[in-house]
Amino acid sequence: MSDRPEVTEEQIEQAVALLRAGKLVAFPTETVYGLGADASNTSAIRAVFKAKQRPADHPLILHLADTAALKHWANIVPREAWLLAEVFWPGPLTLVLPRATHVASELTGGQSTIALRVPSNPIALRLLNAFNGAIAAPSANRFGRLSPTTAAHVHEELGDAVEMVLDGGQCAIGIESTIVTFRGNQAVILRPGAVTAEQIEDTLHSELAASIQSSPRVSGSLESHYAPRTPLKVLNEADMESFLRRESAKRPVAVLSQRGRPRATRAALWQVAPQSPAEYARHLYALLRRMDDAGCQLIVVESVPELPQWVAIQDRLMRAAGGIQSADAATGT
Ligand code: TXA
Ligand code: MG
Repeated sequence: MSDRPEVTEEQIEQAVALLRAGKLVAFPTETVYGLGADASNTSAIRAVFKAKQRPADHPLILHLADTAALKHWANIVPREAWLLAEVFWPGPLTLVLPRATHVASELTGGQSTIALRVPSNPIALRLLNAFNGAIAAPSANRFGRLSPTTAAHVHEELGDAVEMVLDGGQCAIGIESTIVTFRGNQAVILRPGAVTAEQIEDTLHSELAASIQSSPRVSGSLESHYAPRTPLKVLNEADMESFLRRESAKRPVAVLSQRGRPRATRAALWQVAPQSPAEYARHLYALLRRMDDAGCQLIVVESVPELPQWVAIQDRLMRAAGGIQSADAATGT
């Protein structure tokens, strides 16, 4: 399989026909793979929850072909939302807005708001344009697990539960979109991502509101989310060596670090993570999956720099470790 496989027009047409028939189609986005269903078909939406084993009160993200569709799905679109959409769509930003009255409550988990995004991945856009409607798509993983960043990951996660997987190779960004909502006219980040707090503040010429405490309705802020099966711990460089000396004697430990393995450091597996935040994000879930499959009893990740461009990665590492402190991690402050 090449890194950028071709998706043919026939495959797009087949995917559209399956979606119209109420079936599920996984497709690449620039962030992670989505598990797509026709947003106007409630039984297809229910099938998404079943395939993911996701509780019904966790809302999905609606994927749109263009910014103009925003007003069809949202009841109120603040000026700030239009501004962000103009600047960051198509791209890794999700806007949570009051929903239009016709929106199926299955989509929103019964909430009064709806999450909307126009992805930039060319295959996703071809699919959305050919489908000529909205595609509801959560990440194409089972509930609580790591998001897939390749078509092979989708097959591992969902097997036969998905009718078709459009293979777009590896996702360019590799972690889920930034989710933004509004308190009045003030933007709030619900989940950090590739679009940073600083970029949003620069676009709106105003400061972000402090993040809302994680609500159980937002599955992305549950502790168990984005987690490998193997227990995971985040450690500072200074604590690594003594920790590994102690723990590696007891059980096989896998390490993810931005440095090469120091001499005499014991670990069953040592993976070197990329230096730049963009590359780190792109490879993070695949690296965690590989470490999860290595048969170790503990994954240790060396902490990443405390800098704004690392906030989304810090957030995912904390979630994977099961210890998300929602407010700080999510605002990037
Ligand atoms: O990058 C992404 O956003 C990927 C790709 C496929 O687009 N999708 C994704 O979807 O990560 P999912 O379902 O795995 O995560 C969506 C997050 C969840 O945490 C969900 O609870 C939250 O969005 N969400 C959806 N609707 C919401 C709403 N009305 N209010 C608050 N949070 C919402
Ligand atoms: Mg997800």
